[in-house]
Amino acid sequence: MSTSHIRIEGLRKTFPAPRGGVAVTVFDQVWFGIEKGEFVCLIGHSGCGKTTLLNILAGLDESSGGGIVVNGKEITGPSLDRAVIFQHHALLPWLTVMGNVAFAVRSRHSGWDNAKVRAHCQKYIDLVHLTGSEMKKPSQLSGGMKQRVGIARALAIEPDILLMDEPFSALDALTRGSLQDELVSICAATQQTSFMITHDIDEAILLADKIVLMSNGPEARVCEIVENTLPKGRTRKDMHRHPHYYPMRNHLLEFLVNRANSFKTELSDPGYDPMHPPVTRPGVGQPAARPIDAPGDPLPEAKTAGR
Ligand SMILES: Nc1ncnc2c1ncn2[C@@H]1O[C@H](COP(=O)(O)OP(=O)(O)OP(=O)(O)O)[C@@H](O)[C@H]1O
Ligand SMILES: [Mg+2]
Repeated sequence: MSTSHIRIEGLRKTFPAPRGGVAVTVFDQVWFGIEKGEFVCLIGHSGCGKTTLLNILAGLDESSGGGIVVNGKEITGPSLDRAVIFQHHALLPWLTVMGNVAFAVRSRHSGWDNAKVRAHCQKYIDLVHLTGSEMKKPSQLSGGMKQRVGIARALAIEPDILLMDEPFSALDALTRGSLQDELVSICAATQQTSFMITHDIDEAILLADKIVLMSNGPEARVCEIVENTLPKGRTRKDMHRHPHYYPMRNHLLEFLVNRANSFKTELSDPGYDPMHPPVTRPGVGQPAARPIDAPGDPLPEAKTAGR
């Protein structure tokens, strides 16, 4: 039996038939684990059941079969130990930045006095670089700032696990990049166990220790678990230079473009066991792709020219 911190065990979700229609099993026999301090990303096509799975993990929805075990206990509902960051910030519009974060902190620590709550909130507001905006209301913030408040609010309750459903997908590329950088440094500093849904392959390569690939529904399964073969400490600015970057990227792209849909044929492979989806390590054991030269380096041809 797996000893993972979080165990998704044979999870199934069937939505009941609408009047006159047929019931749909969105996913079935979903098994994987998340270790303490691990950052796991889930990738799959639209409609395969990613949000449904995250909602069950958050305790906001019920499974139709199987279960989820956290710290050795089956989850039965929502808990402050599992904080969610939604795609759209979901802030309380009548409260300030400080008020939104404090609202969550008070629900966790009802015995704390105001000074203690404020000091605790300030730590997380500073962490997401919103110092100076404490008294602003959500309507006075940019999209990226609102998303930062959502991150501060989730982190401030110091959850056992942070759940994120495409938290940056509604943001422009520059803001998304800077929030990804912040999340990398926060997770490195706090060793926060995290589970994130994303459609962005580069985001997954930057953030994840492992990436769970989900096939198209109905009856979606975990096709494969991809271990990130790039070393920790990678950044958006340098990860494309690592020899494993393109093997990783191509493997994930190949999944999204081809395999997610054709996976049903792989299911009949006698080697496939949904309880133990195959684990792959792109780039490992393959001939090393040459890292890209640093900007300003002469091109390889130019180095040898004239010799
Ligand atoms: N409450 C519901 N009742 C019936 N069907 C639902 C319900 N919620 C979701 N579904 C169906 O379940 C499937 C999975 O939905 P889900 O939102 O989990 O997909 P997703 O993978 O998160 O997609 P996206 O990438 O677009 O966010 C979809 O076909 C959706 O129509
Ligand atoms: Mg979704």
